[in-house]
Amino acid sequence: MQEGQETYLWWQTGVVYQIYPRSFQDSNSDGVGDLRGIIQRLDYLKWLGIDAVWLSPIYPSPMADYGYDISDYRGIHPLFGTEADFDELLREVHSRGMKLILDLVPNHTSDQHPWFLESRSSRDNPKRNWYIWCDPLPDGSVPNNWLSVFGGPAWEWDESTQQYYYHAFLKEQPDLNWRNPEVQQAMLDVMRFWLDKGVDGFRVDVMWHMIKDEQFRDNPVNPDYQAHMATYEQLLPVYSTDQPEVHDIVRQMRNVLDGYNERMMIGEIYLPIQKLVTYYGIDGKGAHLPFNFQLLSLPWDARQIASAIDQYEGALPPNGWPNWVLGNHDQPRITSRVGMQQARVAAMLLLTLRGTPTIYYGDEICMRDVPIPFEEVQDPQGLNMPDKNLSRDPARTPMQWDDSPNAGFTDAKPWLRLAANYSRENVAVQRNNDLSMLSLYRRLIDLRRNEPALQVGTYTPVYSDMNLVAFKREAEGHDSFLIVLNLSHRPGYFRPQHFPFSGTVEMATYPESEGVSVSDALNLSGDEGLIIRLH
Ligand code: NOJ
Repeated sequence: MQEGQETYLWWQTGVVYQIYPRSFQDSNSDGVGDLRGIIQRLDYLKWLGIDAVWLSPIYPSPMADYGYDISDYRGIHPLFGTEADFDELLREVHSRGMKLILDLVPNHTSDQHPWFLESRSSRDNPKRNWYIWCDPLPDGSVPNNWLSVFGGPAWEWDESTQQYYYHAFLKEQPDLNWRNPEVQQAMLDVMRFWLDKGVDGFRVDVMWHMIKDEQFRDNPVNPDYQAHMATYEQLLPVYSTDQPEVHDIVRQMRNVLDGYNERMMIGEIYLPIQKLVTYYGIDGKGAHLPFNFQLLSLPWDARQIASAIDQYEGALPPNGWPNWVLGNHDQPRITSRVGMQQARVAAMLLLTLRGTPTIYYGDEICMRDVPIPFEEVQDPQGLNMPDKNLSRDPARTPMQWDDSPNAGFTDAKPWLRLAANYSRENVAVQRNNDLSMLSLYRRLIDLRRNEPALQVGTYTPVYSDMNLVAFKREAEGHDSFLIVLNLSHRPGYFRPQHFPFSGTVEMATYPESEGVSVSDALNLSGDEGLIIRLH
């Protein structure tokens, strides 16, 4: 729904919270988080004000890529629990008035998935064409120059059938052939399976990868490549991703969702804005929320961020609902990128911008990237390119609940080491501190929920100073808000021209500013963010 319409759907008004299940809460003392652990922590999420929970994959998997290599799309990995545990989790989420979003990984399966085992068994197997098989070039080399995101070529030789198969990620993650209608139907059936159970939506993994060039043309060289970057970046993935036909697939997925009541899909898409917004689909019949990752890829610079926000707002199609993200399980944590003080400003930005915010677990207690000793690295991206510091483990460490051994996450050895500071930075400590990051998040979520201008109102940028991001949020018949954020550590002066205002500071990153009456100009401290209720 757009501004001016009377009803908005849950995924427009709500706040999404991403759980990385391995790291949230262990309930059976094996050092790995699980579904019953998540159930134990639902009251916390409700208290925080979360509306929808997205779970990274919980399906059976050999765990070559920690669950993003699925060997059964309809089951639950025993590490995470049973199907009955899942049903209970879904009931418990719903009974608290929250929604559950599952990760759907349609681009690739595990190489242990029965489909792939069949496909690779012989060239004339009926499932041969479910994956992307190609002959070698006449000299025996790989079919083209495409690279794997996780390092090395994207083609793996199959000795017994004498062809290469394509894998955008690990060789243990062969890509499905989405040009095959049987594959399409099989995956749409997977969606129906979970929707019939009552799941509220999907976060669709690497949506822009799903269809590749039919002619398998070579990707061009990236002229901006530098040695510290992942080897994948040597080429521009012009032919291996974001093909026009992908939109037909997304639309088919959308049709399935539209057969149910108020279900939705988020697309994981790392593309420039102009391309990203095409995933809303023609007439808005594509992804409900193509993930907008600008805040995790841009330098933390007020001018760049302010113009990116405006560019995004301007590029959205008529019915496209915006969304914002500060972190996920593939990226460095926001606190490690911008520091403790700016992480508070970032939280204020995330929760006051127009559009659905997604919070990555632990960001609400300012968890930082944890240094993982080389011999403990688990992530294949880190292991495959050891000299490039690309391991994603530091942002996947166990949730810090309290100061008991292992932070209340497990009473066994955790699968990944905990932050050294967990006895100081944890949910229990921060809950009792009005000035903590957790309290800031909770208050921001609460304010957003209670103020239509912040939840669904219009966005208008206000320019004043190089180091500030400022904007106004308005909804007819309700209070308006002016948000002014200092993205630098030095004082900032907000003196917009032709923008007289007066109001009261409703919330601030520093408590001293709250309740203060302001008009026309503001002097902000370094790292200060203000939400002003306008009179
Ligand atoms: C994107 C996921 O977010 C990431 O964790 C995973 O490694 C790749 N897709 C491959 O599935």
